[in-house]
Amino acid sequence: VLLLFLLWPLCLLSTCPSPPLATPALGSRHPAAEEPPTFRMVQISSFANHSWARTLGSAWLGDLETHSWDWLVGTIRFLRPWSRGTFSKEEMKHIQALFQFYLHAFTREIPAYVSQFQLEYPFEVQISAGCKINAGKTSELFLNGAYQGSDFLSFQGTSWVPSPGAGSRAQNVCKLLNRYRDIKEIVQTLLGYTCPRFLTGLLTAGRSELERQVKPEVWLSSGPSPGPGRLLLVCHVSGFYPKPVWVMWMRGEQKQPGTRQGDLLPNADGTWYLRVTLDVAAGEVAGLYCLVKHSSLGGHDIIIHWGRYSILLILICLTVVVTLVMLVVVNSWFEKQCSIWNHVSPYVPSTVFPVGANTQDIRSSGHQLCLAKESWIKKKFMEKWKTNLKQFW
Ligand SMILES: *[C@@H]1O[C@H](CO)[C@@H](O)[C@H](O)[C@H]1NC(C)=O
Repeated sequence: VLLLFLLWPLCLLSTCPSPPLATPALGSRHPAAEEPPTFRMVQISSFANHSWARTLGSAWLGDLETHSWDWLVGTIRFLRPWSRGTFSKEEMKHIQALFQFYLHAFTREIPAYVSQFQLEYPFEVQISAGCKINAGKTSELFLNGAYQGSDFLSFQGTSWVPSPGAGSRAQNVCKLLNRYRDIKEIVQTLLGYTCPRFLTGLLTAGRSELERQVKPEVWLSSGPSPGPGRLLLVCHVSGFYPKPVWVMWMRGEQKQPGTRQGDLLPNADGTWYLRVTLDVAAGEVAGLYCLVKHSSLGGHDIIIHWGRYSILLILICLTVVVTLVMLVVVNSWFEKQCSIWNHVSPYVPSTVFPVGANTQDIRSSGHQLCLAKESWIKKKFMEKWKTNLKQFW
């Protein structure tokens, strides 16, 4: 039983260094290419009490989820059309059986060690393991385990090593694990040999999706005021792929040191979203602009000016207001004119054009003209107003 438990740290594993939000050097065109391709399997096991445990499993190529573990059925879910990489169906079946065995055993056996290692319910075990392929085509494996959200142990070279600060419990667990040579060999084979082979196949099969370039959309808004007399300018950058992006609030050639980057957030379609803010005095917004560099832009950086944006808004408002005022003035002028006509010929029903020539004809045709003109003007202005609205809204 212990063997089962030990068996699978295999899969466990590691943190791939999440790409720092760091700003690629200005002018760097393909920062994504610098990150070594990484395949990572993640296991999160929650133990509520002696009889209740649940495990979530997923696998990631860089920041893209490629597989998840269906806990109820005990099978691998392939999340992308190319998630099998270049492995055959048989090979995948074999790997799936291995995971079934391991995950089941892990979840069932851990409670047996609760008292030996003084684990306390409820607790959570996280394991991250996988491999990355470095520039020289060499591969590197990693496996890290955490207990209750803190680093606990890792697999280094050929043995299990407690994490610094994880205490005697981690030392004892590693001492135990290190007695099992078979397990260590399985970890080395699976992560050091099978994993890079699978990763290479994934990169080949998924090439068109992995190498796509999607341009960001950029817009500005103001956030909640940070204080009296201050403005929070927000630059939204959304829908770009791949992930590395460089965004800065600028004035002239000057980067604004108060620029703050939010977290890179995923959109549902696999593209990314980033919010970059600047806290400024309300009187100092002139000349500020948001500068966006991304590999999809082919060197044509996106620049959006704060000032011009608000001038545009003011123009729109002015146009709408002026048009409305004109509409009201013209309308009331025509009403006045028409009431004069009505007054002059009170007996002519406005809807009937009288037949026969008499002096009233002149008056009533004047009245008709008045009505026609009025509706023509109204229509004209309404249309213009509506078009304006449509254009600017
Ligand atoms: C164990 O935990 C589960 C989930 O929290 C709960 O539903 C169940 O009643 C618990 N069982 C016992 C024996 O405490």
